[in-house]
Amino acid sequence: MAFLAPGDRAGPGSVDGHTGLGLDGLGSTEPVVTKALGGGQTVLSVEDLVVRYGTAVALESVSLNVERGEMVALIGANGAGKTTLLNALSGMLVPSAGRISCSGKLAHVPEGRELFAELSVDDNLRLGAWKATSRDTSPIYALFPKLDKLAKRRAGGLSGGEQQMVAIGRALMARPDLLAIDELSQGLAPNIVQELSRHLIRLNLETGLSVLLVEQNARLALGLCRRAYVLDTGHVVREGLSSQLLDDASVQQAYLGGPLVS
Ligand SMILES: Nc1ncnc2c1ncn2[C@@H]1O[C@H](COP(=O)(O)OP(=O)(O)OP(=O)(O)O)[C@@H](O)[C@H]1O
Ligand SMILES: [Mg+2]
Repeated sequence: MAFLAPGDRAGPGSVDGHTGLGLDGLGSTEPVVTKALGGGQTVLSVEDLVVRYGTAVALESVSLNVERGEMVALIGANGAGKTTLLNALSGMLVPSAGRISCSGKLAHVPEGRELFAELSVDDNLRLGAWKATSRDTSPIYALFPKLDKLAKRRAGGLSGGEQQMVAIGRALMARPDLLAIDELSQGLAPNIVQELSRHLIRLNLETGLSVLLVEQNARLALGLCRRAYVLDTGHVVREGLSSQLLDDASVQQAYLGGPLVS
């Protein structure tokens, strides 16, 4: 069993590795500490992961991987274990068994965003930087121009969509290779979700940022990501191309509210 040591984490929910974003100054000059995996382009590999809360098993032998530059969805109903998996990836939970290997830096956008409500937007962003020398927030404002005007505002006073931008921006401050987002769309209006989705796709295309997107909104996640895993009570019960899962009758029935009527 091999886990990333707690000291490998970089800022809130991030894991140190090599850095490499090329977006307007998000590129890094930090030292490179790579935990390379054998054979190539895999940025995250999870093998036979088991996580327990006391005697209750929340994840049982979960395996998944994310390739460099991929957007991968993890969908599943309430209580399936999605948040547990992300918390294990970012080192907040210690697994009982299995292996997590990350060949880059992972940053986590937690469920519910977990901003510091009384701090300003800019201070929240700065808290995502894992070193005092990398606290320049201007690349985040370039990415989310809306936040620029809100920089001095109290994070707790922002709309849900603005708060989600801050949460994503804070994670990006760690200059991750892999962004793990827990419930992008939670509590947000469809047009805001669309706006955030466009930002994510742009980041992915322009910088090669890999994304692991946890969503209860399966249709959104399968629309955004090329590949997906379906988690059910701690087990991966389906995996494959999103296009195939969208056509799968049991996935439609369980997660998509039945087949689309055309
Ligand atoms: N701190 C905890 N202590 C005990 N059990 C927990 C704890 N956190 C989660 N669980 C249990 O572990 C299981 C997985 O929960 P988890 O929050 O990972 O699910 P989820 O897929 O993220 O759900 P949701 O879609 O509601 O966010 C559930 O049965 C949940 O009740
Ligand atoms: Mg959850």
